[in-house]
Amino acid sequence: MMAGMAATRRPPVPDFLYGTAWKEERTAGLTELALRAGFRGVDTANQRRHYFEAAVGEGLAAAYRAGVATRADLFLQTKFTYVDGQDHRLPYDRGADLATQVAQSMASSLDHLRTDHVDSYVLHGPATGHGWSDDDREVWAAMVRERDAGRTRLLGVSNVALEQLEEMAAAEREVPAFVQNRCFARHGWDRAVRAFCRERGIVYQGFSLLTANRAVLSHPLVTGIAAREGATPAQVVFRFALAVGMLPLTGTSDATHMTQDLASGLLTLSSDEVRAIESLAG
Ligand SMILES: NC(=O)c1ccc[n+]([C@@H]2O[C@H](COP(=O)([O-])OP(=O)(O)OC[C@H]3O[C@@H](n4cnc5c(N)ncnc54)[C@H](OP(=O)(O)O)[C@@H]3O)[C@@H](O)[C@H]2O)c1
Repeated sequence: MMAGMAATRRPPVPDFLYGTAWKEERTAGLTELALRAGFRGVDTANQRRHYFEAAVGEGLAAAYRAGVATRADLFLQTKFTYVDGQDHRLPYDRGADLATQVAQSMASSLDHLRTDHVDSYVLHGPATGHGWSDDDREVWAAMVRERDAGRTRLLGVSNVALEQLEEMAAAEREVPAFVQNRCFARHGWDRAVRAFCRERGIVYQGFSLLTANRAVLSHPLVTGIAAREGATPAQVVFRFALAVGMLPLTGTSDATHMTQDLASGLLTLSSDEVRAIESLAG
């Protein structure tokens, strides 16, 4: 019990996550390359439509064999995805009840990732775009059971609106350790959800920081800071994300970008600059 509690308080959460979506046949090689570049956090999902989780496991195994890292060095995160978010390649029985689907999806993830536990297990998205439904409650309860059985250290939810998080917090006994959302600069970089997370000690994971915010990358404020720091606009965006307490994701397929993304934490931003970027577009 004590060990479990200590683990909950001090999880080995790195300050950057390598995202493995959309890499298909390159997934294993790029996962291994990311670990060689220095990433120690890996995000995937048991959703074959967008991710190739078994190949992530293959890349991890190659990195272990090469002595790049051990399982204990890593933060592995995967997700449970409802049928509606999947294609025909389901990691569970279509006709099974939701609690059984969660258990089957987790067992399949552990098999793919060649481990006996993940560090974070995330609900890929609530059942609908509004509210926290009975289905979400059933899935969350099953995820809590997976956590209590030691198959994940921490739990999260993804693709959630503030209103859904509020309903969830009112309905459930515990809030998630993580929220993972697409982060739009035009919504104040998901300001309302980030504030909710900050108040409750939830770590906010931001994705699409570059792809959802193209205009920010060419804004004079950002290009000016990049020039001064001898860095790229992408690095300035990641540095900003870290400065406001986000855990950023990058799914780059480029070795140089991997190194640059990890090094973005070394850039210097003043608090005025952080505030200015935060209110660039909303
Ligand atoms: N929960 C969800 O529903 C959900 C949804 C989407 C994504 N995700 C997760 O988030 C991860 C990241 O996805 P994402 O949407 O943020 O997109 P992404 O796949 O990371 O795409 C980032 C884009 O930015 C470029 N890039 C990265 N670093 C760069 C740099 N330093 N300089 C210039 N360009 C750079 C990449 O190009 P290069 O490859 O050429 O570097 C790529 O085109 C995914 O792999 C997945 O794990 C989760």
